[in-house]
Amino acid sequence: MQTECVLLYFIFPVITNGCCMKSPQKEMTGPLQNQNFRVVEGEIFMMPCNKSNKSVMWSRNKDDKKEKKHLSFNCTEMFITEVEHSGIYKSQTGSILTLQVMEKTSLGCYRPSESSRILLAFAGGMIKCPGHTCSNNTDVVWYKRNKAVSKERRESCEEMEHLQLCTVDVKDDTVFFCDRKIIEQGVMWSFRRAVNVTVIPHLKARTPPKITYPLADVIEEVVLGRPHNLTCKADFDFEVNISRKVQWFMSQGDNMENMTLLHTERPQESRDTFRSFKVIQIANIKEVTTHHLNHMYTCVASNTVGNSSVTTRLKQKKQVKWPSLLGYPIACFLLVAGLGITLRVKWLEVQLICRSHFLFGTYRKEDTDFDVFLSHVWKPSSSEVERDLFFSTISGPYHDAEECLSSVEMLGAAEANATQRPIEVMLTEVIEDQWRYRLCLLERDLLPGGAYTDDVVMMIKRSRTLICVLSADYLTDSNAVFVLDAGIKALLQDSALKLLLVWTNGASASHIHPDLPLPKLVQRALKVLPSLDWCSDTSSADTSRFWTSLRRILPKD
Ligand SMILES: *[C@@H]1O[C@H](CO)[C@@H](O)[C@H](O)[C@H]1NC(C)=O
Ligand SMILES: *[C@@H]1O[C@H](CO)[C@@H](O)[C@H](O)[C@H]1NC(C)=O
Ligand SMILES: *[C@@H]1O[C@H](CO)[C@@H](O)[C@H](O)[C@H]1NC(C)=O
Ligand SMILES: *[C@@H]1O[C@H](CO)[C@@H](O)[C@H](O)[C@H]1NC(C)=O
Ligand SMILES: *[C@@H]1O[C@H](CO)[C@@H](O)[C@H](O)[C@H]1NC(C)=O
Ligand SMILES: *[C@@H]1O[C@H](CO)[C@@H](O)[C@H](O)[C@H]1NC(C)=O
Ligand SMILES: *[C@@H]1O[C@H](CO)[C@@H](O)[C@H](O)[C@H]1NC(C)=O
Ligand SMILES: *[C@@H]1O[C@H](CO)[C@@H](O)[C@H](O)[C@H]1NC(C)=O
Ligand SMILES: *[C@@H]1O[C@H](CO)[C@@H](O)[C@H](O)[C@H]1NC(C)=O
Ligand SMILES: *[C@@H]1O[C@H](CO)[C@@H](O)[C@H](O)[C@H]1NC(C)=O
Repeated sequence: MQTECVLLYFIFPVITNGCCMKSPQKEMTGPLQNQNFRVVEGEIFMMPCNKSNKSVMWSRNKDDKKEKKHLSFNCTEMFITEVEHSGIYKSQTGSILTLQVMEKTSLGCYRPSESSRILLAFAGGMIKCPGHTCSNNTDVVWYKRNKAVSKERRESCEEMEHLQLCTVDVKDDTVFFCDRKIIEQGVMWSFRRAVNVTVIPHLKARTPPKITYPLADVIEEVVLGRPHNLTCKADFDFEVNISRKVQWFMSQGDNMENMTLLHTERPQESRDTFRSFKVIQIANIKEVTTHHLNHMYTCVASNTVGNSSVTTRLKQKKQVKWPSLLGYPIACFLLVAGLGITLRVKWLEVQLICRSHFLFGTYRKEDTDFDVFLSHVWKPSSSEVERDLFFSTISGPYHDAEECLSSVEMLGAAEANATQRPIEVMLTEVIEDQWRYRLCLLERDLLPGGAYTDDVVMMIKRSRTLICVLSADYLTDSNAVFVLDAGIKALLQDSALKLLLVWTNGASASHIHPDLPLPKLVQRALKVLPSLDWCSDTSSADTSRFWTSLRRILPKD
């Protein structure tokens, strides 16, 4: 025991006053203690609490002189005093307290430095009562917050203006008050001064900082064209004179010799534990470019003891496009709605295109009476009939594809020879006589006496393909237009029918303006139905292309 004590005294010479023992009970005495407080403006103060009631509110008397502002203070809370706080306060239990806040200038020896004190934890520490050089320090009583130091179970001693703490605790990081007794005109005042005590673990940092983020060799994902924050988090040892620093450097590729310091905002610092601080330093890249992907980024954390660093790279993040589109529900909705409206408006055209361009099966030969229903409007003159006959003689039956092609070439040549021959006539000859298709011609095959419309519909139903040879004459002939209309309706009902338009010399939907407007259905169908153009005065190559295309469209068996 004895030796330990001697050792202690040796290590902490500051305690050699020999006070380190259980302090004697020392507290302000008197009825209800003294409830008259004199304090200095700008210093910390706390209203006294009731021993039996921890939560006492003190309110300034409303009927106090000069209509002062109503004030109330909770006895557990500290506040900085102002001269205006002076007055008489009342607690709920009816106790009375007089507070007198003095101006700093009225004190002869005010030194701001005396209002705070830094103590080293786990060592001995001494606190001096402010104003000790110019006051009667005979009976100074110390309080830690609201509690008399002498009542604490700790080793300390109060000697004159000093409070000697044998071992400073982390919990001593708070406000200490020293009360001096003053008696003026028979009234006893407690002249209370405050000392803000800060307890620190040590003066200087002992360990170098440690970077906790980013981890070494971790590559950060970035999005090109977007901002990116380079974040560095480091733990620092406590120090009084702050030397801690976190910086971001950039280097080209692997060249770590030449590092450029990046601009950073003020770091975010926070006390982590009693001994350590956390610092977060962010370098902001306003817009990530491919340039940034080639750089190395190094975070260096340093203090007086040393430094540590972590290097990271940036990598482009694989972007999923859909979620970003779905992120805009309005745009998405408009897109879908727009598509819907377009489809609704153009539904007929869509149907016609699908039905006429994609096969939904074809009629079998046995189920029909005709392979081709040829609809045209043509009134032959006598000379044309003659040529008609001539042509028939040079043509013959062709069945396989090769022969067909050569025949087509021949036809083309023949046509080039006789440009005046109307396509209506040629079609009949080629389809029926050369290609041997079962051809239906209204003027020839329609039985007399029947109802025209019913018969037309009937004949379309009995045909595999409908070819309409369109000309200005055709579109002004109501009977012909009826055939076309019936054909379109049949196509919409039954996609096995094929419908082909043959536009003759310069005729097209936009050029022809018949006297009677065409039915809406026909007008729309004309724009989308499959068609071939026939021009009698074009080259033989174009002509042969026409016949080849036609042959391809007609049924194969
Ligand atoms: C503490 O409160 C009790 C009642 O709660 C009261 O009787 C007593 O006077 C109060 N003491 C002081 C010091 O205000
Ligand atoms: C303590 O004070 C509160 C008001 O702050 C009061 O309501 C309560 O009655 C008091 N308790 C005692 C035991 O006096
Ligand atoms: C006084 O402050 C303490 C702690 O802040 C709180 O718990 C208590 O309710 C307060 N009392 C009153 C009367 O506001
Ligand atoms: C100092 O105060 C004490 C009482 O607290 C008193 O007895 C003593 O006379 C005072 N000394 C001076 C010099 O005022
Ligand atoms: C005591 O001083 C520390 C800094 O030294 C400060 O952060 C704290 O707010 C002060 N306490 C009061 C109650 O003013
Ligand atoms: C802090 O810096 C001041 C002024 O530079 C110096 O006087 C003091 O000794 C330093 N304290 C520590 C603990 O290094
Ligand atoms: C980057 O950090 C700043 C604060 O320094 C913050 O305002 C901003 O939102 C952060 N940006 C990103 C993309 O995290
Ligand atoms: C270091 O880098 C800067 C730009 O990052 C460049 O201008 C300078 O020439 C480089 N110096 C050396 C020695 O490589
Ligand atoms: C980090 O510390 C080493 C020595 O430990 C020193 O050579 C180097 O210059 C320091 N770097 C920085 C950025 O302070
Ligand atoms: C073109 O017509 C002439 C007579 O008008 C005839 O001699 C010739 O053979 C024809 N050419 C072809 C390819 O039919």
